[in-house]
Amino acid sequence: MLSPSPYRSLNGERMLLTIVAGARPNFMKVAPLIRECEARGVPYRFVHTGQHYDFSMSEDFIRTLGLPEPNANLEVGSGTACFQCAEVTLRLERELVEHAPGAVLVVGDINSTLGAAIAASKLFIPLGHVEAGLRSFNRTMPEELNRVATDALADFLFTTEESGNVNLRSEGRGEESIFFVGNTMIDSLAYAMDNSGETGIVEDLGVRPGEFCYVTLHRPSNVDEPARLEEVLGLLNSISKRLDIVFPVHPRTRARIAEDGLGGMLGDARMVDPVGYLDSVTLTRRARFVLTDSGGLQEESTYLGVPCLTLRPETERPVTVEEGTNVLVSEDCGAILGAAFDILGGKTPAGKVPPLWDGHAASRIIDALEERLD
Ligand code: UD1
Repeated sequence: MLSPSPYRSLNGERMLLTIVAGARPNFMKVAPLIRECEARGVPYRFVHTGQHYDFSMSEDFIRTLGLPEPNANLEVGSGTACFQCAEVTLRLERELVEHAPGAVLVVGDINSTLGAAIAASKLFIPLGHVEAGLRSFNRTMPEELNRVATDALADFLFTTEESGNVNLRSEGRGEESIFFVGNTMIDSLAYAMDNSGETGIVEDLGVRPGEFCYVTLHRPSNVDEPARLEEVLGLLNSISKRLDIVFPVHPRTRARIAEDGLGGMLGDARMVDPVGYLDSVTLTRRARFVLTDSGGLQEESTYLGVPCLTLRPETERPVTVEEGTNVLVSEDCGAILGAAFDILGGKTPAGKVPPLWDGHAASRIIDALEERLD
């Protein structure tokens, strides 16, 4: 049941929608929502929590995606998970009390998502969660706790794939709060493909289209333990003997490689700073295959029909494996190498685009909110 919000406008004005984003993958998810608000004249405030603050992790994405300057930046910055959640809750509370939105939208599964969800629901402001219901069933993954707790607080659960609907029902959520809308990250990807050409990154890095592996790694489970990180870098080294590697290195991963003194292990791999959104889309489209532990890249490679090896034992996005091009490879580096060489030998998974990944998820989300709240 929705609680009546003390902040709802009673004078017939359209509701104010507060849209919260905090870290790199959030910006792709909010961009289509903001475009939709602009197109319909829905008043909104775009709030950046400041969880990511480096130019390449934040502002570059905001600019490339055509997002407006955030109306507020909470400047939370780095810290432990508890610090980030608590600071987002406290600082967003002030923002919400001041601006009295009719609803708050949070996206994804980062610490900012949960912090913002707590603030909105403690103020009885209707809360929508975009990308609800995904479950890895691995509670050691920081994002899993954020997903479960955010969904428990949210009034509107916007799901990207059928597994999300199933998970939410099995947690006792009623049909009236579950909205299967598709995937706003794919909205952004479809929009970028229609409106922006490829960038020159493939040529700039001196690799050939279709003849390199695009690598991203940042999960604590792969990079925080020195022994695991060494094993993973050794794997990349083996692959690089057969195929060029392009590896934009996340700040967290770069710090661990430096701390553990493993910088020399990668030989010829092109280790570069984090790349912008359009560069990442170009690298994904042109890669022979993607090797990643990112949630977003599993989805983007499925949409683009590019093989993806995911360096994790499980995924909260099973549709990318069941219908898409994603293959989970986890512990055993020999098996991972085997999977990579299978792709090089032409054994590639034939995938299809999952239901409702059609570029119109944001429109369905704003429809649902307007119908229910106005
Ligand atoms: C966060 C999200 C993860 C998401 C990822 C995308 C959580 C629990 N995790 O992980 O789901 O996939 O973002 O990148 O919220 N740092 C910088 N500059 C920045 C941001 C971070 O140098 O702009 C460094 C800091 O040292 C920081 C570390 O990276 O401590 C980790 O950043 P943090 O936001 O805590 O988590 P991510 O690993 O980026």
